[in-house]
Amino acid sequence: MKVKYSILFFLLALVVVLALKNPKQEVPKSVRISKEELGKLLFFEKALSLDSTVSCSSCHIPAFAFSDTTALSDGVHGKLGLRNAPGVMNLHANEPMFYDGRAKDLADQVHFPIQDPNEMNLAMIEVVKRLNKDPKYKNFFIALFQAEASAANIADVIAAYELTLQTSNTPFDAFMSGDESAISESAKRGRELFLSDRAKCFDCHFGPDFTGDEFKNIGLYDAKEWNDVGRFKISNDSSDIGKFKVPGLRNVGVTGPYMHNGKFKTLEEVIDYYSNPYLTVKNPVNLDASLVKPINFTVQEKADLLSFLKSLTDKQFLNR
Ligand code: HEC
Ligand code: HEC
Repeated sequence: MKVKYSILFFLLALVVVLALKNPKQEVPKSVRISKEELGKLLFFEKALSLDSTVSCSSCHIPAFAFSDTTALSDGVHGKLGLRNAPGVMNLHANEPMFYDGRAKDLADQVHFPIQDPNEMNLAMIEVVKRLNKDPKYKNFFIALFQAEASAANIADVIAAYELTLQTSNTPFDAFMSGDESAISESAKRGRELFLSDRAKCFDCHFGPDFTGDEFKNIGLYDAKEWNDVGRFKISNDSSDIGKFKVPGLRNVGVTGPYMHNGKFKTLEEVIDYYSNPYLTVKNPVNLDASLVKPINFTVQEKADLLSFLKSLTDKQFLNR
């Protein structure tokens, strides 16, 4: 009799120990969320920054095609970053990430701004703790991953949300689908010029999003006033000095200021720059061969290029 009781007791104790060791992550059945939806919540979540004042969307503002409107962005405690915040739309085929390609893909990229002292300045491990302390987020992660939030699944869901930020509803796309009247005559001439050997824009900005998967030097480095070495800092290859990832041009009409340092406020300034780079940077280092000889666009050509670039704006950002 005594032996039987002790066996029973032992089994009971075993069950309790096992249950404590592997608590079943029960979530109410009503908790349903997709990766993209959770990623969206986190993209707008200020708790991802040290003092809970900055979210991804502080610098990647939806109304401006997810870019910032200032040359350099404010991070926590008003600290300024080092580069201009680009739009984060249409990035599905634009790896590696950042102007210098230091993150290998969208998910890898997520860790950088969160931990950057000039941006959100919070250790990933802290973010994980904060989210798991919040019953709402904890339940969402368990419902999706059968596990609590981790650095990896946080990056995973934010990247999934970013991949939904595709835009292709532009006058240019309507024109390409056969609607001749969707863009102006000026934009049509601008398109021809963009594709031409004279302007060579398409040599670098190609593909459906006008991005290149390459790093190029358009002359914005002179080792003095213009001193961001770009890709070289990551690759250590001297041929990469002053090279930056070729950005996509969709929605470029609403993503100013432009370039890695936000030095050009308007598209007019960008076009003037390509017309003759030396008027802005006298002695560029390692300038791409295709831009060495100034093009000197006519007034009409400049206007046409501008019309074309503006035709790449998604209708959701027009008439704001
Ligand atoms: C304080 C401003 C700021 C915050 C906050 C911020 N970013 Fe950025 N983001 C930038 C800047 C500046 C760059 C360009 C940096 C570079 O290329 O070196 C950038 C670049 C990127 C890129 C690369 C785009 C490309 O074409 O290569 C992605 C993607 C991105 N951010 C997503 C995010 C996400 C996701 C968050 C939130 C976890 C976030 N950012 C938070 C300023 C910010
Ligand atoms: C040799 C390659 C190359 C050529 C040719 C070229 N670009 Fe670029 N373009 C780039 C690179 C690289 C950047 C980013 C440079 C930086 O941020 O410092 C860029 C940036 C831009 C930007 C700013 C985008 C942003 O979001 O900040 C615009 C607009 C642009 N180019 C339009 C054009 C037009 C129009 C032409 C033709 C007149 C052209 N490009 C020719 C490589 C090129």
